[in-house]
Amino acid sequence: MNIVYTKKHLTETVERIKSEAKRIGFVPTMGALHEGHLALMRKAKAENDVLICSIFVNPIQFNSAEDLERYPRLPEKDIALIDGLCDILFMPSVSEIYPVPPTETYHFGSLENVMEGSCRPGHFKGVAIVVNRLFTMDCPDTAYFGKKDFQQLAIIRKMVEDTHSTVQIEAVETVRETDGLAMSSRNKLLSEQARKAAPFIFQTLTKAKELTATKQPQEINRWINEQFNHRKEFRLEYAQMVNGATLEAISDYNQADSIVICLATWLDNIRLIDNITVRESCK
Ligand code: PAJ
Repeated sequence: MNIVYTKKHLTETVERIKSEAKRIGFVPTMGALHEGHLALMRKAKAENDVLICSIFVNPIQFNSAEDLERYPRLPEKDIALIDGLCDILFMPSVSEIYPVPPTETYHFGSLENVMEGSCRPGHFKGVAIVVNRLFTMDCPDTAYFGKKDFQQLAIIRKMVEDTHSTVQIEAVETVRETDGLAMSSRNKLLSEQARKAAPFIFQTLTKAKELTATKQPQEINRWINEQFNHRKEFRLEYAQMVNGATLEAISDYNQADSIVICLATWLDNIRLIDNITVRESCK
C-alpha cells in the first residue's frame, strides 16, 4: 500500500493510474476502521482496478470541539488493517485539505433540514465540502458509501447530481456486530455497560419493522419513542419513518416506494445513529 500525504503527490499518482486507463474505486473514511469500512473497501476493490481510500477526520463536519477532540484516531492500527487491501491511502493534514477556510457552499433543500440535518446544523455542508474536494483530488470512477449513514448517502447522491459530477455512487449494506449493533467508530467510546445496552437500538428497529404489518407510520414512531422512554440510559433524539428517496416523514405507506426508519440516540454521552429498511424501491 502506497501512503500519500499531500494533494500534489496524490494528483501525480492518480494521473499515472488514469494514463493506464485503470478504473479507480474510492472509499472516504475518518479512520478508526472496522468491518463496516472494510466491506466498502472489499466491494470497491472487487469492482475496480485500483482502490484509493482516505483517512481524514474532517473538522468542519463536527458540531462541537469536544466531539472532534475525542473522535478516535488510530492511524497505525488502521494502516495495518488495510495494508494488502487498499492500493493507495490518502492521509492528508487539515491544512492540506483546507489551506484557507472553505467558502464553497451547498444546498440540499429538504434533505438537509430533517433528522441529522436539523440536529447537527452545518454537518452535511461540511461532509459535502470534503467529499467534493476529495473527489476532485482522486478522480474516482466510483465511490462507495455505507447505508448506515442513510441521510449522508442521500446528500452525496444529490451533491453529485447538482455538481454534474461523473462519479458513480454505490451504496453498501450496514455491517453489524453479532448482537445487531451497527458497527461505528464511535462504538469504541462506549463504556462496557453502555456497550451491553447498545443492541437495544437495532432490536427496537427490528420490532418496529415487524409492526409495520399492523400499525400506521406515526403509531410506530410513537411506539419507538415509548420503548426508549422506558430505558433511562438512552436519550432518543429522533425516530422517524421516512420516504427513502426524499427523507420526508410519511404518514401513510402509499406515500413512498422506498421506506426507511431512521433514528439517533444518545447512550451515555455518545451519539449513535441507525436505520432499517422497511421497503426497498422496486423501481
Ligand atoms: P466514517 O464514519 O469513517 O464512514 C466512512 C464510510 O463508512 C461511510 O460511507 C459510512 O457510511 C461507512 N460505514 C460506517 N459504518 C458502517 C457500517 N457499520 N456498515 C457499512 N458502512 C459503514 O462517513 C464518514 O466517515 C464521513 O462523513 C466521510 C464520508 C468520510 C466524510 O468526512
